[in-house]
Amino acid sequence: MIETLFSMSDKVCVVTGGSSGLGSYMAQGFLEAGAARVYITARSAEKLKEKAIELSQIADGECLPLAGDLATLEGVEALSTEIHEREQHIDVLVNNAGIGTGAYIDDLKAADWDRTMDLNLRSPLFLTQALLDLLRHRASVEMPSSVIFISSVAASEVFPHVMAYSTSKKGLEHLTPQLALALADDHVRINTIAPGRFYSEMTRGAWENPDSESFKAELERLPAHRYGGAEDIAGVAIMLCSRAGSYFTGEVLNLDGGHRIRR
Ligand SMILES: NC(=O)c1ccc[n+]([C@@H]2O[C@H](COP(=O)([O-])OP(=O)(O)OC[C@H]3O[C@@H](n4cnc5c(N)ncnc54)[C@H](OP(=O)(O)O)[C@@H]3O)[C@@H](O)[C@H]2O)c1
Repeated sequence: MIETLFSMSDKVCVVTGGSSGLGSYMAQGFLEAGAARVYITARSAEKLKEKAIELSQIADGECLPLAGDLATLEGVEALSTEIHEREQHIDVLVNNAGIGTGAYIDDLKAADWDRTMDLNLRSPLFLTQALLDLLRHRASVEMPSSVIFISSVAASEVFPHVMAYSTSKKGLEHLTPQLALALADDHVRINTIAPGRFYSEMTRGAWENPDSESFKAELERLPAHRYGGAEDIAGVAIMLCSRAGSYFTGEVLNLDGGHRIRR
């Protein structure tokens, strides 16, 4: 049993925001677990191509770059068209691309609110909708397809300076069981991972000087006493998309090293 429990063998996956950080960690994990093809997406074509070349070398499966901006509906549609031109079905969609914006109420601009909602909340829903026929195509009771949303610990906390970000992530968590129920008869499972603090470009400012007092104090407060890394998010994503986690649907998994219960 254990040989196949976490296998991604033969699976076709799409990971948005796969050129760096959490998206690249999950794409790497899927390939190492045997995925046939993993499409990664991001705006910066050059960086994306470099990451796809790097990840294609670590396992037998292929990593393929598809550049585009998912903050617009045109970008969502263009990505869907490109995937439809290449694939008859997909098994996994990870809606990971996201931005972290911050501003207190007096400084909050409508354009920043919209930009955050468009990429973090609208695009995961409408990309899932656009790819539903591919996700349904070979999904079955025994081998359901898997969609993952990436939320944040910020969805469960009250930070008045990250209102747009945390509201967008809370929206994803609220969507999760609704969409899971709507797609249950199609054997398409919807789950959300809500990460705490992970090493990535988004958090670089906090960890790039590991000797700083603020970083050391943050690690001290965190029950896990460390930031999350590639293995932490890849492990949970592989679990959710392989046989191991195929009984999960409509669930939000908090992956935060105890962040929410910290001192
Ligand atoms: N790192 C953490 O501690 C943490 C914690 C909780 C939740 N998260 C969530 O995890 C997800 C990944 O974040 P990360 O920390 O890995 O950040 P990251 O390293 O900055 O990666 C973000 C990825 O998204 C892509 N992206 C950004 N804007 C895009 C757009 N408009 N269209 C398409 N792709 C776009 C980026 O590439 P381009 O810039 O080239 O487009 C990049 O590939 C986000 O949803 C974030 O909210 C992160």
